[in-house]
Amino acid sequence: MILPGMAHMYATGQQATEIRTPKAADAPRIHGPEIYGVRPGHPFLYRIPCTGIRPIRFSARHLPASLKLNRRTGIITGKAPGKYGEFAVELKAESAYGEDSRIFKIVVGDTIGLTPQMGWNDWYTFYSHVTAEDIRNAADAMIASGMADFGYQYVDIDDCWAREPGSGDPQLSGPARDAQGDILPNARFPDMPNLVNHIHSLGLKAGIYSSPGPFTCAHFEGSYRHEAADARRFAQWGFDLLKYDWCSYGQIAKDETRTSLQAPYRKMGGIIAGLDRDVVLNMCQYGMGDVWRWGRQAGGNSWRTTGDLGLAKDNSLPGFYSIGFANAEHNLYAGPGGWNDPDYILIGTVGDARHQDSGVRQTQLTPEEQYSYMSMWSLMAAPLFFSGDMTKLDPFTRNVLCNAEVIDIDQDPLGKQAGVVRKTSAEFILAKPLEDGSLAVGLFNLTTSPRAIRVNWSDLGISGQPMVRDVWRQHDLGSFATAYSTKVPAHGVDLVRLVPKEAQ
Ligand code: GAL
Repeated sequence: MILPGMAHMYATGQQATEIRTPKAADAPRIHGPEIYGVRPGHPFLYRIPCTGIRPIRFSARHLPASLKLNRRTGIITGKAPGKYGEFAVELKAESAYGEDSRIFKIVVGDTIGLTPQMGWNDWYTFYSHVTAEDIRNAADAMIASGMADFGYQYVDIDDCWAREPGSGDPQLSGPARDAQGDILPNARFPDMPNLVNHIHSLGLKAGIYSSPGPFTCAHFEGSYRHEAADARRFAQWGFDLLKYDWCSYGQIAKDETRTSLQAPYRKMGGIIAGLDRDVVLNMCQYGMGDVWRWGRQAGGNSWRTTGDLGLAKDNSLPGFYSIGFANAEHNLYAGPGGWNDPDYILIGTVGDARHQDSGVRQTQLTPEEQYSYMSMWSLMAAPLFFSGDMTKLDPFTRNVLCNAEVIDIDQDPLGKQAGVVRKTSAEFILAKPLEDGSLAVGLFNLTTSPRAIRVNWSDLGISGQPMVRDVWRQHDLGSFATAYSTKVPAHGVDLVRLVPKEAQ
């Protein structure tokens, strides 16, 4: 029997694997960001992430009059207030098992994406075979699996939903645009508004993909010379996020100066800012021209800082480490409204980017590596997008993706990305300041054997005797006077939260 609050074991193929995330309590517990940005007068959609046995009755005090809460589903809809302002809404969830409440601050202003986006993207599961049915199933699974109860919200269609000019496949061929020049989905997406409506009806948000070049990376229709029309079309369909992938724009750009690198993003960023709905802009150009320095000014809410994680080389360490190390260097550029994006979380049952037709299979990462991956992404305030198969979520993968205290580190309202405290061939230490004055610290063992890792409070610039909390297992370890020292498994992590006296 699994008792609440106890770590338990889950048997995978070869080894018994410790599930560290405590089982969610029966009583309601509200999760997700504490702060949320929306532009004045724009459509509003937010499903209150909440665990606990349903039925749960939701209520919200001080909700702006233009918004409405469905008390049964916990979905808030309506239009944002027309004027700039902040609304401290008190959310409450009650059931036969207990209740919970928390303040959710709605900030009506120019900035959206006040915390990193969370969701799912289809690329590493479906590649060029993706269909509307796959996306719909993933959205349904986001609810059914409970992932949405922890704050996962965006359901993103990646490349290959449009037509593929010159394709021999009748499902993908045909004119890429209609007589008015509007972009057309391929036959695998017969009714885009209906698909988006379905996603919205669950309280989730929908993302789409295009390229500023004439073609996407997989050679489907791109937005070059149709930018305004495409943005309008995406908004009409109801999309809430656009991933804009450089791809064939290399043929258009005159040179590689920063001005040329910025041009297509400034253009699309400007168009999106003028739309009558909030559309998050995820810039994908692999870090060219130090995008972290100017992505926000170009209108981006996040920007990929590296090449594709699924293609990153495994040397002595799996690919996510090198991507993480590179992304960690740009910590000073991340903040509310604009985040460094080190790419998706590739765990669970997931496809192989080098063999896209070979289907999905269980990740080759060890359990410890998976805890390291999720910890690193959360410390780096990275957008959290799972890209494995949503319909094949196993208990271990769900435990990695859905630990409320780990996610709270990612979503912390202060919006700081962790700084690098130590980087050697054996140890990597990241520290992220949090809004309540705590410090989240990840101690990563990069070696293939267990290793004692020690961090002194003086290394972290802190004093006093903070309470040290084990974040994955969600329990306090006690007060430590000058340092924390711990034995970390091979390729594993110890993720702790150092809570100063004042915040306890
Ligand atoms: C790459 C991008 C991937 C995926 C792919 C689709 O450029 O980095 O995340 O979107 O294109 O073709």
